[in-house]
Amino acid sequence: MANIGIFYGSSSGITRGVAEQLEEIFDGAELIDMEEDYDDADQMLEYDVLLLGSSTWGQGDPQRDWVDALYDIENEEPDFSGKKIALFGAGDQDAHGEEFVSALAKMHALFGKLGAEFVGFWPTEGYTYEFSAAETDGKFYGLAIDDVNQKDLTSSRVEAWSKLVKSELGL
Ligand SMILES: Cc1cc2nc3c(=O)[nH]c(=O)nc-3n(C[C@H](O)[C@H](O)[C@H](O)COP(=O)(O)O)c2cc1C
Repeated sequence: MANIGIFYGSSSGITRGVAEQLEEIFDGAELIDMEEDYDDADQMLEYDVLLLGSSTWGQGDPQRDWVDALYDIENEEPDFSGKKIALFGAGDQDAHGEEFVSALAKMHALFGKLGAEFVGFWPTEGYTYEFSAAETDGKFYGLAIDDVNQKDLTSSRVEAWSKLVKSELGL
């Protein structure tokens, strides 16, 4: 079994809830709260598989506990080649449909530039929004959760996405 780190930032607990559900599904995975537990990129590089979770704030920005970490990673350029990354995060397609879950796009661009490979792209069907920077060819760069408007779908989306990620990783 690959060693798996789940790193998440969450302001009102939605992405945290998803991260905790993922911790139960992915046996042996470790949960790292970007606010409380994160030190530096070396901590990420300890894992073969990274499940990275951020909600979207401002105008398409990553959640605040990610901001310094992403800035440092961008400057220090650690090598993520050989790492598999799956992205997830919460947004609000109704009130913030002009940048729905766009934070995932910033993370995809940064870690992709540093050599990571991505799994867990997720179909955009079932969501209604104006624009998402995190959309490519009818898929999001990772799991999009909208607990504000589609609360009843959150848990089943996490389950279905976990199956997809596991199968892409051969777990
Ligand atoms: C001031 C503010 C700005 C927001 N901006 C966005 C946004 O640009 N895109 C989006 O999809 N959601 C946006 N949201 C919605 C949050 O991402 C959403 O409430 C999410 O569930 C928060 O997840 P968290 O509790 O894990 O931080 C915003 C919410 C607030 C209050």
